[in-house]
Amino acid sequence: MNISEFKTAGKLITGLGAVKALPSEMSRLSIHAFAIVTDKGVSSSGLLEHIKQLLPNNAVIVIDDIPPEPEITVIEEKLQLLRQKKVDGVIALGGGSAIDSAKILAAAYDYPGNLSSLFGENTLEKRALPLIAIPTTAGTGSEVTNIAILCDPETQMKKGIVSHCLLPDVAIVAPEMTKTCPKTITAASGIDAFVHALEAYVSVNATPITDALAEKALTLIFKALPHAYNNGENLSAREDMATGSLMAGLAFGNAGVGAVHALAYPLGGRFHLSHGMSNAVMLPHVMKVNAPFCSEKLYCVAKLLNVCESHHTKDEAVQLLLTAIERLCRNVDIPQSLKHFDIPEDCLSELAIEASKVTRLLRNNPKQLSVEEIEDIYRHAF
Ligand SMILES: NC(=O)c1ccc[n+]([C@@H]2O[C@H](COP(=O)([O-])OP(=O)(O)OC[C@H]3O[C@@H](n4cnc5c(N)ncnc54)[C@H](O)[C@@H]3O)[C@@H](O)[C@H]2O)c1
Ligand SMILES: [Fe+2]
Repeated sequence: MNISEFKTAGKLITGLGAVKALPSEMSRLSIHAFAIVTDKGVSSSGLLEHIKQLLPNNAVIVIDDIPPEPEITVIEEKLQLLRQKKVDGVIALGGGSAIDSAKILAAAYDYPGNLSSLFGENTLEKRALPLIAIPTTAGTGSEVTNIAILCDPETQMKKGIVSHCLLPDVAIVAPEMTKTCPKTITAASGIDAFVHALEAYVSVNATPITDALAEKALTLIFKALPHAYNNGENLSAREDMATGSLMAGLAFGNAGVGAVHALAYPLGGRFHLSHGMSNAVMLPHVMKVNAPFCSEKLYCVAKLLNVCESHHTKDEAVQLLLTAIERLCRNVDIPQSLKHFDIPEDCLSELAIEASKVTRLLRNNPKQLSVEEIEDIYRHAF
């Protein structure tokens, strides 16, 4: 058995009403003059007010206008504001966009250089401020991962900043926080979570621990996502999605994601397609190409999700799984082709060149893909 390391947030607090633990966690971490980092959608849904009411003091600063899929320049601006107010802790409240922003704000609070110099792996040694993350989507799993993904306007690419210090001190996963999530966000972020689990499961770095997490996450999400999508008030579906997305985050935070994410990145960077939507549209096309190289694992998933029967051969079961994944995407109204998003056909070869540079993720994929193969996948997805 190879030696492997398992990374997660310092503490996980989960379950309905888990946000009530926020004040005690803040005092444990000596957070008194704090910043709340969120966005307009989350604050107008009443969630910000709900959190504020739990806290004894008013926040020193509320940053409530983080845009979806933020550019690194936005974080630079917010960092100046934070430094002027002299905060001693950061509370992230939102989906991946707010959490990723808060991670960098907390980590780079005393970083003297330009933030774009942080893109890459292990560029940050330590986090300057304590950090508590409360996800409101299910989701990115960002509350338990060591990465923040931001847009680099210079290269029009989504890029990762990866460092152990981006793991929050505490992740509070309270399913009721996702009840106000709009339908399209429930669908896109839910498929993102499914992709995290599936890509972690077939990753070349998967371990028995990440496999167990991915298997449970796949089961929960596959069943609950259509229910959470059709009725956002369905609390049991929201609970399963919150747990599934957290477990998927723990799986991919350690085993990594692969080609679905690598091919999704240029769609976000160049055409501002959301992270969840870009992954969702690429998922069936990449998995078709991956299938022969991870057929044992996909066979296990097919059995786990009950999409095949005992008389089916392994190949038949894998085909049934691929069809079931397409059906899951269709059931939550995810468009099946890039054409739908007005992505011009003549840029597919450029997209392929950009995706081929995402080696940090492509190296985790069960099939090593050439630029030509990547372009082929985009053409099938068109
Ligand atoms: N760090 C990681 O490990 C990781 C993993 C995957 C994705 N990401 C990043 O996360 C971002 C995407 O995050 P996301 O999919 O969670 O969406 P998001 O944070 O971009 O939010 C999307 C929209 O949903 C709204 N919203 C979110 N929760 C809501 C709620 N409960 N009620 C009402 N409105 C709500 C927001 O206001 C926003 O307008 C991307 O930038 C992506 O690159 C990070
Ligand atoms: Fe993702």
